[in-house]
Amino acid sequence: MQIKDQPGAALGATVEDFDHTTASEADIETLLRTVYTKKIAVLKGQDLTPEQFLALGRRLGRPETYYEPMYKHPDVPEIFVSSNVPEGGKQIGVPKTGKFWHADYQFMPDPFGITLIHPQVIPEKNRGTYFIDMGKAYERLPAELKREIDGTRCRHSVRKYFKIRPHDVYRPISEIIEEVETKTPPVVQPTTFTHPMTGETVLYLSEGFTVGIEDGAGNPLDEDLLKRLFDATGQLDESFEHENIHVQSFEQGDLLIWDNRSLIHRARHTATPEPTVSYRVTVHDARKLHDGITTA
Ligand SMILES: [Fe+2]
Repeated sequence: MQIKDQPGAALGATVEDFDHTTASEADIETLLRTVYTKKIAVLKGQDLTPEQFLALGRRLGRPETYYEPMYKHPDVPEIFVSSNVPEGGKQIGVPKTGKFWHADYQFMPDPFGITLIHPQVIPEKNRGTYFIDMGKAYERLPAELKREIDGTRCRHSVRKYFKIRPHDVYRPISEIIEEVETKTPPVVQPTTFTHPMTGETVLYLSEGFTVGIEDGAGNPLDEDLLKRLFDATGQLDESFEHENIHVQSFEQGDLLIWDNRSLIHRARHTATPEPTVSYRVTVHDARKLHDGITTA
């Protein structure tokens, strides 16, 4: 296994000659360390079957199966499928996922630490995913803004981006909204937490899932504060040229593993959608997202 920093990028490392079937425990530890410190590990030359991809994920942690069944791979339910390419006339997985800034499962009480993506069908033109390192973004916040959010908490919900399912057709929207609020009520997390694997301070919020901010006693704070945080971290920059934004490209055979604690990400927008398919496995590692989470 050879690990090299991605040339010319603030984030990421490439990993050559990694084989999950023969990797030693020490190799796995090294790979995990790379994910935590470099934030993105791009494993080269993978081309795994769904079963092999899941097996690789299991070497890194305990897989979490997505809660909404329509995203599941038909043979390997632990795999979340993002696809706009029907197979045999049938939609597999869900098209146009994640075209907004978010951390995976940020709206859930017990989010996982690691996301793995294995692109299957790669678009010609707009390949790649946008990332922001929210550890770095926190460091770069003006001192005044850091002081303002000290001791605050954020409220996260899936409500803005919950995708209507085929069986929701003809249901009243109020009923669907009520179902979303009951099944996935908003969760409250500290606005910043200490990354349990690196010790860095992470700003844990995203334009897609963070819907409110409150003081330590639970009193809602002005929504403008959230907007200023989204703006300062680069999440409102529609040109994607903000210094915090990293574009991670990939090619056939790549398998991306990233730190879901400190990175937020966003799928690239395309005016004319090209065929795109990717498989995702998400895993809980040895620690909770942060030490304040005590749920099972
Ligand atoms: Fe995502």
